[in-house]
Amino acid sequence: MIRPGGTVRELLNQIPGQNATVHGWVKTRRDSKGIHFLHISDGSCFSDLQVVVEEGIVPEEQMRSITTGSSVRVDGELVESPAAGQKVEMKAHSIHLYGTADPVSYPLQKKGHTMEFLREIAHLRPRSNTFGSVFRVRNALAHAIHTFFQNEGFLYVHTPILTASDCEGAGAMFGVTTLDLMNLPREKQSGKIDYSSDFFAKPAFLTVSGQLEAEIFAMAFTNVYTFGPTFRAENSNTPRHLAEFWMIEPEIAFADLKDDMELAERFLKFVINEVMNRCEDDIAFFDKRIDNTVLSTLNNVVSSDFEHVTYTEAVNILEKSDKDWEFPVKWGSDLQSEHERYLTEDVFKKPVIVTDYPKEIKAFYMRANDDGKTVRAMDVLAPRIGEIIGGSQREERLDVLKTRLAEQGLEESAYWWYLDLRRFGTVPHAGFGLGFERLMLYLTGMKNIRDVIPFPRTPGSADF
Ligand code: 4AD
Ligand code: MG
Repeated sequence: MIRPGGTVRELLNQIPGQNATVHGWVKTRRDSKGIHFLHISDGSCFSDLQVVVEEGIVPEEQMRSITTGSSVRVDGELVESPAAGQKVEMKAHSIHLYGTADPVSYPLQKKGHTMEFLREIAHLRPRSNTFGSVFRVRNALAHAIHTFFQNEGFLYVHTPILTASDCEGAGAMFGVTTLDLMNLPREKQSGKIDYSSDFFAKPAFLTVSGQLEAEIFAMAFTNVYTFGPTFRAENSNTPRHLAEFWMIEPEIAFADLKDDMELAERFLKFVINEVMNRCEDDIAFFDKRIDNTVLSTLNNVVSSDFEHVTYTEAVNILEKSDKDWEFPVKWGSDLQSEHERYLTEDVFKKPVIVTDYPKEIKAFYMRANDDGKTVRAMDVLAPRIGEIIGGSQREERLDVLKTRLAEQGLEESAYWWYLDLRRFGTVPHAGFGLGFERLMLYLTGMKNIRDVIPFPRTPGSADF
């Protein structure tokens, strides 16, 4: 315990009849017949602690300043609560007011603010019910992820955030430079920017994925994972895309796509189950107030087997449907969100793993199938969200990998160390990337990915 008195969570589990101290912020205040009722929150759990201030206990002068948003310490006695739903409340003996919150200008007064408005006050929204629950779930999910991999003996590796290599080869990277943008050095002959005097003496970027470095570690530690921030400069203004998001990337050696899919399913079920147990009140709140399918969907995921289809089978299903697609379905084009949702929500009604995508729409590192057209890719699609995991078996054969790099117009020299892994003790291996915030959307039923990360970064927006 870091301060005397205990958290609201601890106090709510105490036996009535003892003195205690609570520190927190006043969420609501109600006055009735000279008695004041304060709801105190310290973020430790979904419930507030009700504090009853009887007439004459605290000078009226001081009581006037204790309004929604103000910060207090209350010393008092825990007593049995007549209110439904909670065992104890506190009868105040004295209140110390740390900071007031002017009721006229404090923006979190009323209930029923829109998510858009709350996003504009991201410095205060963690104090609201919804965002209290969101960030407790986020914390529990991060912990569950580490627990899963640590229990299974995976090594946690910190992959770099600043990098010179483009993992996805998709050109959606944020450049990082210390060059003077008003006065860029140029190569004499070509007129191109001369990076030799830049900080890293070559073009550098924020990473889009830790996978390539995770593969290095899997070739020494067998089973590893990264869990860190990744960055994508895609100009996609959608409820599912962030410019800065967190990704979990396990990489397993001596393993194929089947092992990879099995790991993904077991992993998702474990972490969802953990969060449902640890954050019961928060999940119940989401189910009641945000999306009434949250609980049933999560229970369904935990208890049912994921569906498996190949990309080609998926395209056949989509072509046969009588849906009016915004993006036409054609073998060779990537599945769009509307297609992914149709497969999971209308056809299979559960998570679906789609495998063996056309090689043209997937990254260079995915293992080539014998048909010459497809690769050992797998995407896990979830109802409501679409793609939450992207992964593959990796190309472990040096000659095939070189051909794939050439086909995608990528320089072998930039990937020399990645190719070395295929020269020295190569083994079949596989891995995947889970978008942390996509899974958060799933767990909470929140509609916009900007509302499941503390401080969202999206095109045109990097406040706080
Ligand atoms: O499918 P992606 O691009 O796969 C990779 O980056 C691989 N290197 C992963 C691997 O095999 N180790 O991204 C993985 C996941 C997606 O399935 C999605 O959940 C999430 O990352 N994601 C995003 N989440 C939020 N905002 C974005 N802009 C995202 N782009 C991808
Ligand atoms: Mg993907």
